[in-house]
Amino acid sequence: MQRTGLAPPVILLVIAALGPSCSGCNEDPKEPTWADEARELESRPARSAQFNTSRRCAECHARQHREWQGSAHGRAAGGVFARVRETLEDDARLACDACHVPLAAASERIARDGVGCDACHTATGHGEGQVAVALQPELAVKFGPYDDSRDHNFHRVAFSEFVTGAALCEACHADRTPGPVPIFTSVAEWRAGPDADKPCQSCHMPKAQAEAAKGERVRQVAHHGFGGEKAAALEAAVRLDLRVVRTPAGPVGRAQLHHQGGGHPLPTGLPERRLLLVLEAAGAGGQVLARQERRYGRRLVDAQGNPAPFFQAVREEGDERLVPGEPRVEELALPRGTQRVSATLLYERFDPALAEVYGETAPVQVAHRETTVEGRWD
Ligand code: HEC
Ligand code: HEC
Ligand code: HEC
Ligand code: HEC
Ligand code: HEC
Repeated sequence: MQRTGLAPPVILLVIAALGPSCSGCNEDPKEPTWADEARELESRPARSAQFNTSRRCAECHARQHREWQGSAHGRAAGGVFARVRETLEDDARLACDACHVPLAAASERIARDGVGCDACHTATGHGEGQVAVALQPELAVKFGPYDDSRDHNFHRVAFSEFVTGAALCEACHADRTPGPVPIFTSVAEWRAGPDADKPCQSCHMPKAQAEAAKGERVRQVAHHGFGGEKAAALEAAVRLDLRVVRTPAGPVGRAQLHHQGGGHPLPTGLPERRLLLVLEAAGAGGQVLARQERRYGRRLVDAQGNPAPFFQAVREEGDERLVPGEPRVEELALPRGTQRVSATLLYERFDPALAEVYGETAPVQVAHRETTVEGRWD
């Protein structure tokens, strides 16, 4: 009896003593940590001169990683893109990968990161042919915004004008497609607009005070959420007002959309993006008496004039996007008996006319206004 009572601690001790020499056990299926890596670095200095998964960077840059994971860049190689890519020929796929899978040459695992950390932070210039950005991991340097940080044993650091300027973003957000219609127009439009002196980062990577890396001093850092909080970003940029106005032809609900966010027209980027304004007049019982929808976007069509995805389009049939500083007014004539008028602004990732190509996606509500109609109509 006494022996069994003593047995557990003895066994534990034995295991503990065996632990370090149990080299083939492989009890820890985790990836090696940076500390393991750093130890390896000492014997093989070239070890960090390669691409890493974004998860590896998270060990010291957890905030950037969290924000990036929720961003469009973190999803660039998956989701709808991956589905549409499957439907294309091999050559066309490679052309897509230039921007969506910039780490394709690294390894399959790293490629899945899409526009991962190293796609921007090992970049030294624009790429050629089917490579959008020239990447040089062999330098073992992470290029960033600081000129006063110290080299770390995991990676060296350096300031880069390329990474902190619009040139980095241009590598993938400017048009590269050989087709007859310009597809990605954000860069050209930004350059022709009133904010050409502000790099994309000044609006798309808002600054805050925090640690840039675990345990380091607090300093200015930049948000890595690119497009992650779509509704909030759009609501801040596009002002929606709604009033009831009496005109000679009768009362109308008058909505005004004002793009105050600058930069370029909205929506931008993929020509399939849409902003949708819905105006509604409702009666005393809440029943809808009148309704009107307006879509804002670039309408690309194929040779037959049917709505087409960007990779099959031959011409642009119309462009109703919101231009910075040019308010747009829409009116809905209010039928007799109207008690309430509402205006709702929504964001659609893909024009619903192209649901066959991209699938159904639920619109995101950006803003909603409501007003009651006072007095009688006549
Ligand atoms: C073991 C910790 C560690 C890991 C892992 C790590 N970093 Fe860093 N990184 C640092 C430290 C420390 C700094 C310096 C921060 C400071 O000076 O405030 C830094 C700075 C940076 C900077 C700013 C450079 C500058 O001077 O402007 C970038 C960019 C960066 N890291 C990218 C990455 C990327 C990408 C990865 C993954 C491939 C990565 N880091 C992995 C510790 C790490
Ligand atoms: C290696 C190519 C590449 C680089 C470099 C790059 N992007 Fe992107 N970006 C993409 C791709 C691809 C997407 C779309 C991902 C998806 O949704 O599939 C995207 C998406 C975005 C979005 C989100 C759009 C949305 O729909 O909400 C923003 C904003 C953005 N990028 C801004 C930037 C800025 C600013 C820079 C420069 C600091 C930059 N990008 C650099 C390829 C790149
Ligand atoms: C003066 C501010 C400003 C500048 C500079 C700017 N943008 Fe924007 N951009 C916006 C605003 C505001 C939005 C709408 C909110 C959002 O989606 O983040 C937007 C949205 C976008 C989107 C998402 C498009 C969509 O329809 O969902 C992309 C992509 C983009 N910008 C790319 C760029 C690129 C690339 C540059 C640099 C060449 C740039 N922007 C410069 C303000 C700016
Ligand atoms: C689309 C390009 C892009 C991607 C992807 C990207 N970064 Fe950055 N990062 C930047 C730019 C540009 C800056 C400098 C912004 C500025 O100061 O204007 C920056 C700044 C930084 C800094 C300096 C501190 C800070 O937060 O501003 C660190 C560290 C960093 N990035 C790490 C990472 C890590 C880790 C990942 C992946 C999880 C990552 N970045 C993904 C473009 C990118
Ligand atoms: C020049 C760089 C570039 C190339 C090449 C490119 N894309 Fe994109 N793609 C982008 C950017 C930038 C965005 C994000 C623009 C925006 O947010 O409006 C994007 C967004 C998308 C989206 C929307 C993803 C989502 O979830 O909202 C799809 C789908 C897509 N691309 C498919 C493709 C396909 C298919 C190809 C090849 C035929 C391709 N792209 C080639 C840069 C590129």
